[in-house]
Amino acid sequence: MNQKDFKPRVFSGIQPSGDLTLGNYLGAIKRFVSMQDQKFETIFCMVDLHAITVWQNPTELANSTRELCAGFIASGLDPNKSILFNQSQVPEHAQLAWIFNTVARMGWLNRMTQFKDKAGKNRENVSLALYAYPSLMAADILLYHATHVPVGEDQKQHLELTRDIAAKFNHDYNVDFFPITEPVIEGAGTRVMSLRDGTKKMSKSDPSEMSRINLRDTSEEIALKIQKARTDSDGLPSEISGLKGRPEAENLVNIYAALSNITVETALEDLGGKNFASFKRILSDLAVTELSSISKEMTRLMKDQGELDKILRQGADRAKAIASPILKETYDIVGMVR
Ligand code: TRP
Repeated sequence: MNQKDFKPRVFSGIQPSGDLTLGNYLGAIKRFVSMQDQKFETIFCMVDLHAITVWQNPTELANSTRELCAGFIASGLDPNKSILFNQSQVPEHAQLAWIFNTVARMGWLNRMTQFKDKAGKNRENVSLALYAYPSLMAADILLYHATHVPVGEDQKQHLELTRDIAAKFNHDYNVDFFPITEPVIEGAGTRVMSLRDGTKKMSKSDPSEMSRINLRDTSEEIALKIQKARTDSDGLPSEISGLKGRPEAENLVNIYAALSNITVETALEDLGGKNFASFKRILSDLAVTELSSISKEMTRLMKDQGELDKILRQGADRAKAIASPILKETYDIVGMVR
């Protein structure tokens, strides 16, 4: 069946757990901001229902949700242009996820590598929700008939599952109702890696604080982390080929290019021939300048919890206005009496 035309609509989500990192900012939020200013309707969600698939301290969860909202706004997402809200305020997400639990097959979920990584040896003792996580993620996306989903490379498999769920639902109920969503996977260049190990993604769950830069780090912390970042003993090359097999050097150059909004090629034209000591000073000045204005704005926004909560509530109302008719129609298709 040919797909009908769906309106270009972007949906993406970030878990409110722990601090926001430079990786979230350069890899995700900056791209969200650029999509907001293109032809799309944009919806960005703080996925608190996903966060609780592993234990969250309730006070910290609430704080992280508000901080993520402040981080979104401080980075340039405008609540008047984009819909910003936390997932649990729109119960339709959980309702559609239940329907999708009936569509997704055990075999599909058994293949999810993120579940295997997160559960590890603890497989018998993780929550049922951690296993069902990708089905909720499919619901997040399809509840808005989203056509484009910007995510990191690590979410590619979950997006394929989302496409499989949409296709099987459409097929089983003989409808053309859910779109087959386009993944918009971040390029390798925008993927920020750990400062301690250039082959691992920068992550808020890494036990080493020195591995990541948090958006709310002080200037001193940012400078120290960059100064101590792992490198190799060569200087900086003037061409990309010179970064091959040097993941730490490549990561720092990528961060420099992303922060300056230039390509890696252009960055290397300026940087080629420098040693790491002088490059790190330039990089740390750049990072401090860009991040300190975001961090200041976040601190200011965090002082007015009432205002943040109002933004989230209004975002949830707008989200619900789109989600509710789509859930109702889904229920009709499935044969639920209402
Ligand atoms: N699973 C995503 C992550 O960990 C977060 C997420 C939840 C998401 N729902 C989503 C991303 C819907 C995009 C679309 O990064």
